[in-house]
This record gives sequence, C-alpha cells and structure tokens, in this order.
Amino acid sequence: MGERERLLDTAREAAEKAYAPYSGFRVGAAVEVQTVDGPRVVTGANVENASFGLTLCAERAALAAAMQLGTVGASSATTNDQRTRASATGKPNRRVPEVTRVAIACIDAPADAGDAARMPCGACRQWLAELAPHATYYVAGVARDLRLADVLPDAFVMPPEPAP
Ligand code: THU
Repeated sequence: MGERERLLDTAREAAEKAYAPYSGFRVGAAVEVQTVDGPRVVTGANVENASFGLTLCAERAALAAAMQLGTVGASSATTNDQRTRASATGKPNRRVPEVTRVAIACIDAPADAGDAARMPCGACRQWLAELAPHATYYVAGVARDLRLADVLPDAFVMPPEPAP
C-alpha cells in the first residue's frame, strides 16, 4: 500500500470515531506533522452538537491536536508571517507545526458523489491555509493529490504590521 492510501486509511479509521448523530455524515482527518522525534500522525473526526452551528469538523479537530506536538525547523515559512508579527508586538512567538501531509475521508459520502461532497468546508480550508500551507492533500475519492492553491486559492493571510 502506498503512502497516500495508508494515510487515507488512517483518516477512514478516525472517521469511525466521529460523533455525527444529526447528519449521519462521518468525516475523518489524518495530519502528518514533523516533530523532533520524526514524523507523527494525529487524527480528528467531526463532533456534532445539538446547536448545529457549534459542530466541529474533522480537519479542525486534527489540526488542533497537531498544535500539541513539538515542531521542527526554525521557520516553516508559512504564507502567514505570524512569527514576525508576534515578535513585533511582543506577543508569544508561537510557531506553527510543520504539517507535511493531510488526508481527509468522508466515509458516508455516496459512492457516486462528486468531489464537492468530499472536499473540506470553507472554514476548514482557512484553517488549513494557516496551519498546513505546504502540505500535500489527499482527499478520499478525489484522484489527484492537492496543494493549498487547489484547496483555497488566494487564501487570506494577515499582513505583517509595519515596522515601528
Ligand atoms: N464536516 C467535516 O467534518 N469536515 C468538512 O470539511 C465538511 C463537513 C462534517 C460537519 C458535519 O458534522 C458533517 O460533516 C455534515 O456537514
């Protein structure tokens, strides 16, 4: 089994742990992060809520978990120059994790559903732009490996503050 299928399998397994009693649509995400101990994979699944708008998507659950892992490299050269911004404002200079691959699987999508039923929602795309700008994206049922430019072209990034 190739790397792509292995990570997608991990995402499918994560989806089994989804809490989706309202939609019945289970989603899993597997995120590979480079740490000082080598690559690690963390997962997430969607967690719904009776107040529907509070539902947490699989991708954001996995990315939030990834933030708990130590990261490597002086700079992940994100599209969002947050580190510069943070140091200029005296706020903690929090590095983003080095996310190298992201796999997403909607295990309840009908077999004949198009790509739109399998791709991340808009909110998750913005999170991915911030925390996984250099990752390769695997989406179950979407044949092509994707990059951020495919997932969210012209993603919003916070401009650095002007030097004092
Ligand atoms: N969902 C995700 O987990 N990720 C996405 O990117 C799209 C939607 C979840 C949220 C909700 O629990 C269910 O799928 C139906 O929208």
